[in-house]
Amino acid sequence: PIHQRAYLLNGEMKQWDGPVSEVYSPVCVPDEQGELQRQLVGSYPVTGPQQALEALDAAYAAYNNGRGEWPQMAVADRIACMETFVGKMLEQKKLVVNLIMWEIGKNLADATKEFDRTVTYIYDTIDTLKTMDRNSSRFRIEEGIIGQIRRSPLGVVLAMGPFNYPLNETYTTLIPAILMGNTILFKTPKHGSLLHYPLLEAFRTSFPKGVVNSLYGRGADVIPPVMQSGKVNVLTLIGSSRVADQLQRQHPKLNRLRSIMSLDAKNAAIILPDADLDVAVKECLLGTLSFNGQRCTAIKIIWVHRSVADQFLSKFNPEVSKLKPGMPWDAGVQITPLPEPGKPDYLTECIRDAEASGATVVNEGGGQVSASLFKPAVVYPVQEGMKLYREEQFGPVIPIVPFDDVEEFIDYLITDDHGMQASIFGTDSNAIAQLIDPLVNLVSRVNINAQCQRGPDTFPFTGRKDSAEGTLSVEDALRSFSIRSAVATKDT
Ligand code: G3H
Repeated sequence: PIHQRAYLLNGEMKQWDGPVSEVYSPVCVPDEQGELQRQLVGSYPVTGPQQALEALDAAYAAYNNGRGEWPQMAVADRIACMETFVGKMLEQKKLVVNLIMWEIGKNLADATKEFDRTVTYIYDTIDTLKTMDRNSSRFRIEEGIIGQIRRSPLGVVLAMGPFNYPLNETYTTLIPAILMGNTILFKTPKHGSLLHYPLLEAFRTSFPKGVVNSLYGRGADVIPPVMQSGKVNVLTLIGSSRVADQLQRQHPKLNRLRSIMSLDAKNAAIILPDADLDVAVKECLLGTLSFNGQRCTAIKIIWVHRSVADQFLSKFNPEVSKLKPGMPWDAGVQITPLPEPGKPDYLTECIRDAEASGATVVNEGGGQVSASLFKPAVVYPVQEGMKLYREEQFGPVIPIVPFDDVEEFIDYLITDDHGMQASIFGTDSNAIAQLIDPLVNLVSRVNINAQCQRGPDTFPFTGRKDSAEGTLSVEDALRSFSIRSAVATKDT
C-alpha cells in the first residue's frame, strides 16, 4: 500500500500528520474465511479548510494579479517547463497505470491507454499553442490607431476531475490552464486520488512555486471556503451537474466566474429500420460497456425501431453476455469491479424498478455477482416513467426502448435535461441527413454509425443543457483558459 503523507503546496511537499482517508480498491480478494474483501491500496491526507485556503493563497500570490513570474513568462519558457514535466511524468508511468487499475478497477489496456492518451494530449496541446494566435504583431486597426491583440491568462483556476478518467480528464483541464499562464489548485477525485501522488514531485520541480497546488480532503470541507473567497477566477469540473450547481452558487460574484465543465449525460443511440445491425451491435457494445459504461460519453439508452428490435436483441444480447469479467490486470478482461460502493445496489434498484413496469433483463447472466462486480444487463422494453429512461445509470445496465416513429426519439431528446451526444445507426443517407440537423441542435455531437465518444481530442468536447459549460478540445481548452486582450496605441 502507498501511504501518502505529503501534498504539494507553494512549491513544497508539505508533510501531513493529521487525519487520513484509507483507499479501498473495488478489487475484492477472499480473506481467511473465504469472504471477498476490498483490498487496501493506501491512504491520503484529509486536509481541511485551513490547508485549502493556504493552497488558494499560494496560487493567488503566484498569479499576483497577473504580475507573477508565471503569467508574465514567455510562452516558449512555459512550454519548456511543461516539456520537463512530461519527461518526469513518463518516469512514473508504471506506478500510475498500476494505481489506475487498483483504485478504479480499469483494465490494463484501458489504464495504459489513459496514461498514453494523456501524454499525447499534453504534446498536442504544446504543438497547438506554438501555432495558435497568441500575441499578434502590431497592426493599424483604423486611421490613427495601432493595435495589438494578445492572449492573456485568467487568474486562479480551481480544477476538479472525475473518478472514471482520474488522470486524463483532470489533466485535460489542468494542462491547458497551466500553459496559458494561470495558477492552479486542483482537487483529486475520491476514487483515483493516490495515482496523482507520484506526479506531485514532477509538478513541484517543473514549475515555479505556487503555480500548481494540490487539494485533499472532503470536498464539502475544502471547496466552499475556496469558492466563497471570491479569488477563484475559473472553475473547471468534470463531474456531476448537481455538484456543479452547488459549487457555482458558492462564488460571491457568480457572473465573474468562468466555468468550464463536463457534466451528466444520457447519450442516446437510435437504430433505424434499415440499419446494418452488425455495425450497430459492435458500436453499441463498445459505446455502452467500455469501462463498464462509466464514461460520460457512454451510450446510456438505445432506441431501436420496433420492426428490428427482436433481431437487434438476438445479436446484441449474446455479445453482451460474452464479455469477460475479472481482475483488471488479467488479459482480455472487459468487465471489472465498480469503484463506487453503492453502485451495484443502485443498478439493481433500477432493474427492479423497470421490472415492476413490465420490462425484464433479456440477456443471460446480467446482474450483480459480488460486492463490486456487476455483469452487464440489457433491460427491455424500457419506457417513460422508469428510472432507466431518464437517470444516468453510469454503469453496466443497458435500457432498450422500442419506437415506431423517429419523432418519439426527437421528443425524448427535447424533453431530456442532458445534451451531450447521440448516435444514429442506419443506411439510408436521406433518413440520416434529416435527423442530423435537429439532433445537432439538441446535443453537441452526432455520431453516424459509430458509438458516442470524446476522441479524437482535437474535436470539440462539450454539451448542452445540464451536460456542459464551455468547450474543451486541445485548441478550445487553450482558448477557454485565456482571454483575448488588446493594446491600442494612438498613432500621433
Ligand atoms: O467520461 C468522459 C470521457 O472523456 C470519455 O472519453 O469517450 O474517449 O472514452 P472517451
